[in-house]
Amino acid sequence: MVTRPLLNRRLDGLGNSIFGVMSARAVATNSVNLGQGFPDVDGPPAIARAAADAVMAGKGNQYPPATGIPELRNAVARHQQRFYGLRYDPDTEVLITAGATEAIAAALLALVEPGDEVIAFEPYYDSYVANIAMAGGTRVPLTLKAPDFRPDLAKLESLITSKTRLLMLNSPHNPTGMVLTREESEAIARIAISRDILVITDEAYEHLTFDTEHVPLATIDGMRGRVVSIGSAGKTFSFTGWKVGWATATPDLISAVRTTKQFLTFVSSGPFQYAVAEALDLPGSYYTEMAADLKAKRDLMAAGLAEIGFAVYEPDGTYFITTDISPLGERDAMEFCRGLPDRAGVVAIPSAVFYDDHPEEGRTLVRFAFCKRPEVLKEALSRLSVLAR
Ligand SMILES: Cc1ncc(COP(=O)(O)O)c(C=O)c1O
Repeated sequence: MVTRPLLNRRLDGLGNSIFGVMSARAVATNSVNLGQGFPDVDGPPAIARAAADAVMAGKGNQYPPATGIPELRNAVARHQQRFYGLRYDPDTEVLITAGATEAIAAALLALVEPGDEVIAFEPYYDSYVANIAMAGGTRVPLTLKAPDFRPDLAKLESLITSKTRLLMLNSPHNPTGMVLTREESEAIARIAISRDILVITDEAYEHLTFDTEHVPLATIDGMRGRVVSIGSAGKTFSFTGWKVGWATATPDLISAVRTTKQFLTFVSSGPFQYAVAEALDLPGSYYTEMAADLKAKRDLMAAGLAEIGFAVYEPDGTYFITTDISPLGERDAMEFCRGLPDRAGVVAIPSAVFYDDHPEEGRTLVRFAFCKRPEVLKEALSRLSVLAR
């Protein structure tokens, strides 16, 4: 019999994903699941067809190249140039990964040494906490607070110590929907340059913004050499199950990230890489219509939730809307979300789970995913109306 604890101590307390628990509750109670962020309509049929064709044509069915197929690396480089004017060499500055998730893990494991400090926005996308722990790093929260969730940049500067290795940034930000402004990005760049720190930018929701400009940090003067930018085909093209993502950075940074990626998945998603290469070249209308469609869903949810009595913090991007349940007479989002499937037949996520260091900031905050068909959102709102006072 094994007598020692089995889980690596660095991961202690990280084992119970709220998403799995809540999704199981959704099924058991026949609830509308607005917990996990995935669309309930697949991406463009022509792109799905391209994936099927690749499988049947024997493209990508065997291990693809370690850095990703050249067609996709070229398409990512074209995308960075087309949308942001950023030039990356597809052979040395682009790495294809198993979703943004692997790019984040590989980058943190590659760049963070035990004892290093990593500053990240809290509430955190959950994998940052785990990956920083796996690397033996220490997370340092820059806490985003309701109602606007804007980062306090003077505070950011004050958090930097001799141990600070990097900033792990996320904009558009999950779960709050905050999108950094150009001024904020410039201020962050000034700090990163003057204190000589690296930045990883998780831009999984780069195209999912609502009348708000997404400014990649790598576009700010002096930043191209110190930023690892991360993208997600799952989010951009509504194929979250395909797990295709990428990182773009200088050859040195990409080579470091590739070294860890090699021992995580080595390679993945062969045939899907061909399909995503096509998707990235879709006309501008695809990108604008996808964002407009999502914006209409945000508006529907924001108005509906406000009418029921939630305080609504309208997001500028992502799949998610954050609400405060205090006006409904509720005091504890965790308890509220646990009871919601039985009370209203809806699943939502208590934002406290994303505030690992300051759970009190999320105590009355609840996150709803709105990347669902309008009829599903309307059904959820109609069910939630039992909460109206
Ligand atoms: C902020 C953020 N980063 C990364 C990911 C993961 O992206 P992928 O599915 O491409 O691994 C998600 C998915 O929810 C996310 O919200």
